[in-house]
Amino acid sequence: MVRIAPSILSADFTRIAEAVETAEKAGADLIHIDIMDGHFVPNLTLGPQLVASLKDKTSLPLDVHLMVEEPRSFIPLFHDAGADWISFHLEASAHIHKDVTLIKELGRKAGLALNPATPIHLMKEILSELDFVLLMSVNPGWAGQKFIPACLPKIRALKAWLREEKLDIPIEVDGGIKPDNMEDLIRHGADIIVAGSAIFAAPDPAAVIGEMKKIARLHDRRDDP
Ligand code: DX5
Ligand code: ZN
Repeated sequence: MVRIAPSILSADFTRIAEAVETAEKAGADLIHIDIMDGHFVPNLTLGPQLVASLKDKTSLPLDVHLMVEEPRSFIPLFHDAGADWISFHLEASAHIHKDVTLIKELGRKAGLALNPATPIHLMKEILSELDFVLLMSVNPGWAGQKFIPACLPKIRALKAWLREEKLDIPIEVDGGIKPDNMEDLIRHGADIIVAGSAIFAAPDPAAVIGEMKKIARLHDRRDDP
């Protein structure tokens, strides 16, 4: 079943715990937390203290997306804070194997994130080590940007490659996703849908999550070859 990961980047920052509780009650599968350092991306967001504070507010896995330079120095901090899934950007690490190994040694799920223009073949030597792949469908830095359609064939190509290699690694897609374009993404191979503004900028976030879950159920790919 396709999973829904609401991104709290678009929530009211004075009421994040409430947003997380709403998301969980509405059927969210993961809580996506965007970490920006003002270097890798030109914006600053949240840190490990926030992750630690949210840890006892939800039983959902905390999916921490690191948009930072030198991710290695941050990985232990987010592990200690209670992150369950940790992804970092291929473009930000000079030692990808070492960083993936560190996350896995710490007992967390390791993901590699790719910007829209970064080709998937750069993951060749690390793909089988990953617990998930995060394909960006906007240039990271802000919520509320327009979906980049060139990401669709990229998702399809990665899905085909994973099938060929018999690797059961979920593809998470992040940026510009709404109930309207979700179906297309699922058809191309997305397994985890991240959505920020579509959910938290809406008047009724729980209703949007409900709608996305419904689309996910309708397009369940359990019977895929
Ligand atoms: C963008 C972040 C996304 C963002 C998505 O840099 O990585 O997770 O919150 O927001 P929307 O869904 O509004 O594009
Ligand atoms: Zn993200």
